[in-house]
Amino acid sequence: MYRLTERNRAIGEMFSSIAPTYDLLNRILSLGADRKWRSAAVASMVPPAGGRHLDFATGTADMALEILRQKGGRAVVAGVDISMEMMRIGREKCRKTGWRERVSFLRAPGEDLPFRDGVFDSACVAFGIRNVADRERGLREMCRVVRPGGRVVVLEFSTPRGAVFGALYRFYFTRLLPRIGGWFSRRAAYAYLPESVLAFPRPEIFSGMMRAAGCSSVAHVPLSFGIVTLYVGER
Ligand SMILES: C[S@@+](CC[C@H](N)C(=O)[O-])C[C@H]1O[C@@H](n2cnc3c(N)ncnc32)[C@H](O)[C@@H]1O
Repeated sequence: MYRLTERNRAIGEMFSSIAPTYDLLNRILSLGADRKWRSAAVASMVPPAGGRHLDFATGTADMALEILRQKGGRAVVAGVDISMEMMRIGREKCRKTGWRERVSFLRAPGEDLPFRDGVFDSACVAFGIRNVADRERGLREMCRVVRPGGRVVVLEFSTPRGAVFGALYRFYFTRLLPRIGGWFSRRAAYAYLPESVLAFPRPEIFSGMMRAAGCSSVAHVPLSFGIVTLYVGER
């Protein structure tokens, strides 16, 4: 059994403290692009309609809701997270859409998922794997619970490489974003965001980690000039 580490707890508490303004800041800081990124990630999950899906580090359930939107009335989602406060907001959003009974929320660490092997058609994680204390173990768990032939889909920030755009983006990300975050929420949390993104492995390295965790093949696609990378693994 996995015990929550100090780091797990600190990360969970940080997300609980920013939960009330999390969605608003996502829209502002990404200029609305986060919806488009989630939509592209869900489009790469199988099957095209219906299915059982895992939303790992579900947070306020934006991915879970996008899955239900795209996959229609027969799809069901399990959302797992360590922050009760993020999931409380997610649960409320699902209730408002009338889809509450199609998403089950569970508080569990992604490093120790409370599911049997191969029970999901696809598993996704959006902007969550970067925060998972034992990333390799989290990826192995995602692979374990997806059936052979299913998909493991990861959406994560990356660092654009072009000399001009890369430099402009780094300025926005490391200087402006923490300041804007601080106006609406806890500045420390929005200083952690660029730090953790800059420390995240490059797409080629992270694809290798997904293969090592149990994906038979992995494709990675840059979105919005490489601000975000979409990883699609075959199980
Ligand atoms: C940036 S939010 C992403 C939320 C959501 N997936 C989205 O697309 O907006 C990261 C989430 O990861 C969760 N998290 C961090 N470490 C985790 C872990 N070890 N297991 C499960 N969830 C974790 C946090 O509580 C937080 O809700």
